[in-house]
Amino acid sequence: MTLITLRNALDEARKGGYGVGAFNVTDVLQVEAVLDAAARTSSPVIVQTIVGASAFASDELFWDLILRAISHYPDVPVVLHLDHGPDEESCRRAIDAGFSSVMIDGSLDRQTHQPASFEENVAVTARVVEYAHARGVSVEGELGTIGGSEDGSKHAEIVLADPEQAAEFVRRTGVDALAVAIGTSHGAYKFSSPPDGSVLHMDLISEIAGRVPGTHLVMHGSSSLPGDLRAVINTYGGTLPESWGVPEDEKARSTKLGVTKINQGMDSHMAFMAEVRRSLATDGLTADPAPALRAGRRAMTDLIAERMEVFGQAGHAGDYVAEPFHAVAR
Ligand code: 13P
Repeated sequence: MTLITLRNALDEARKGGYGVGAFNVTDVLQVEAVLDAAARTSSPVIVQTIVGASAFASDELFWDLILRAISHYPDVPVVLHLDHGPDEESCRRAIDAGFSSVMIDGSLDRQTHQPASFEENVAVTARVVEYAHARGVSVEGELGTIGGSEDGSKHAEIVLADPEQAAEFVRRTGVDALAVAIGTSHGAYKFSSPPDGSVLHMDLISEIAGRVPGTHLVMHGSSSLPGDLRAVINTYGGTLPESWGVPEDEKARSTKLGVTKINQGMDSHMAFMAEVRRSLATDGLTADPAPALRAGRRAMTDLIAERMEVFGQAGHAGDYVAEPFHAVAR
């Protein structure tokens, strides 16, 4: 397995002038889909997952299976990243389980679902950085709050990142990467019309990048929410509302402005579930789940492979000559 750190992946991406997709997974089949897409396009890749987001009863079991899956792709440089770690303890659990990168999301008070204070965010992030860096693990922090919610259950308001605070946050925490709220939101409902500069603040990226030159910027909520996938889902029983996500060309442009990590989960889920729904609806005689899940996995691989070309990471797997994070043979 070639597990690498987020710092390693994003430093290389900056040198090469491209972005690296961080694809959310909630099942081992989705891990296979991401890794197959990376192998097909010769890409470095970030596999990311959220605490409690899988259908497994145990995070530790799921995480172990992800590491096993990664070991089957020796030619793919992979970052295993905890997305939106809700607290210090979750980040420690992931680090102890073998993740090469964690995000501590100290921007939101998990009790009230209101933005946390800047001082609280700095304090918890700095503690996670201390634990992680002592073990060679990278850390992503968050400034401002990204709207929506990772699992669709709550809808936090959007608070745009402040460039002045970004510089202070980075100086006081030592994060490797910073998620900056620029108007995007998580989930299957984002913009009510095609986004323009009044809702999607691309200008903020370069403004912040200029103040934190040694830190990588992360664009969250980057799914495009393709209308054709929504149509298939809704044809077969879904009720997804019409919505616009981040256009492909804006994602590509973000990598020229200073973004090196592009987070995307919902598009994968839509690609996967559109084909699962189609398969279930059109093949009433099969009770075995495998054909439907196989169709979902393949559709997700195809979508991610396309995105890897857009982000620019395709063809760059061979660039990674740095020491692997650890040679795991678990
Ligand atoms: P989407 O909800 O747009 O897929 O974004 C995922 C994300 O940012 C995870 O952190």
